[in-house]
Amino acid sequence: ATVRYEAEASPAVCTGTIDSDWTGYSGTGFCNGTNSTGGYAQFTVNAATAGTAALNVRFANGTTTARPASLVVNGTTVQTPSFEATGAWSTWVTKTLTVSLNAGSNTVRLNPTTAEGLPNVDYAEATTTDGTTPPAG
Ligand code: GCU
Ligand code: CA
Repeated sequence: ATVRYEAEASPAVCTGTIDSDWTGYSGTGFCNGTNSTGGYAQFTVNAATAGTAALNVRFANGTTTARPASLVVNGTTVQTPSFEATGAWSTWVTKTLTVSLNAGSNTVRLNPTTAEGLPNVDYAEATTTDGTTPPAG
């Protein structure tokens, strides 16, 4: 199943502000993390069964410099993605990350690793294999 988790929708956490001043976002806004290493975006991702999932993070970075982060899943850093410049704050792109999830609820957090903070984060979309058979018909 593919589920979209909007950065502005609880239980997601945005250490910063939920803004809507740049166009093109999904839902009602996006996470503008505080420009510091403390400005994170966190998602609660549910998986029916344990396994690998594709996580599409939609973001915009209107600066000319990439913004690196740690991808922290259930408290463990699993990857250090860098969110490249997208040309404008209203230009959103999707980066696909791969995460290993537990069955049930998982916390997936992007922790910026420089003082510039994260890019603006619109959502995370997780595609999990839930092991169920689609209904017939
Ligand atoms: C600008 C922009 C914000 C962005 C910020 C940043 O202020 O309007 O949306 O979050 O730059 O550099 O992070
Ligand atoms: Ca910001």
